[in-house]
Amino acid sequence: MTQPKESSIYGGAKPKLPKTPQLASEKPVPSKVTAPGILARKATGQKILALTAYDSPTARLVDEAGFDLILVGDSMANVVLGHATTLKISLDQIISATRAVKRAVDRPLVVADMPFGTYHISQEETLRNAFRLVREGGAQAVKIEGGQKRAHLVRALVDADIPVLGHIGLLPQSYNLRGGYRIQGRNLDGAEQLLEDGLALQDAGAFAVVLEGVPSQVATAITQRIDIPTIGIGAGDGCDGQILVFHDVVGLSVGPQPKFVRRYANLAEEIRKALDALAKDIQHGEFPSPEESYNYDGNLPEGWEDKE
Ligand code: KIV
Repeated sequence: MTQPKESSIYGGAKPKLPKTPQLASEKPVPSKVTAPGILARKATGQKILALTAYDSPTARLVDEAGFDLILVGDSMANVVLGHATTLKISLDQIISATRAVKRAVDRPLVVADMPFGTYHISQEETLRNAFRLVREGGAQAVKIEGGQKRAHLVRALVDADIPVLGHIGLLPQSYNLRGGYRIQGRNLDGAEQLLEDGLALQDAGAFAVVLEGVPSQVATAITQRIDIPTIGIGAGDGCDGQILVFHDVVGLSVGPQPKFVRRYANLAEEIRKALDALAKDIQHGEFPSPEESYNYDGNLPEGWEDKE
């Protein structure tokens, strides 16, 4: 059956766009990254490249750039949804974002953050919520915040065949309890606590652990003393990998950035310029052009265009 001429301006089959050549690493990489594959990096010394993403176009770019792990982080609350903290994001919002990410990527391991309140009530509820992230969102692993006090949950999740990425140090979900975002492990007691936390997560079966807001010396020592990879954010260069928030890296975040953020682009400025140019073109009647418009087949009946 012949389709009407303009039926395919939106939608249709998922476009198979050519992938850009490998950018971030010169080495050939295995096709799919798995949780055991991330764990195995500890022995190889090949740095783990991790970034957040919350939507399909961003995730696709992160995949193309050769990143190993995409975190659908609860930082989406701050950088996408405009909340002041990560506490307000819901499980449904993370599931929806995880689906979008999964639709776009082939290679990286997709890890979904368990939001505040989804693993705090009981082990049973933690498992139920994690199953939703895997079954409905398509997550290949989940991340929960906390060390020793969450180790039993990590064990339960791993026993239920759900790989877990731990997260210790500065814990955004503990914002109220700790009275703000505080660097952890600045003294020996704090450093020892962090090491205990890392070991507890390792023993519970986590495949890797995020170290956030930890002095470099402490993060490096923990990296040397535990058997699972550490992925640092604000934890210096001694970790087994690094993770950052996508919007911070490309200059789309609003407000002052922590000192560990290195901005590789200023997309906000680029977008401002583009929107300013579009607004001017519309105001001056320069958009759309005839080439950007559709034509009626034939001629409109005489007088049809005239107002009464
Ligand atoms: O939600 C997030 O983006 C995170 C990273 C900061 C590790 O948890």
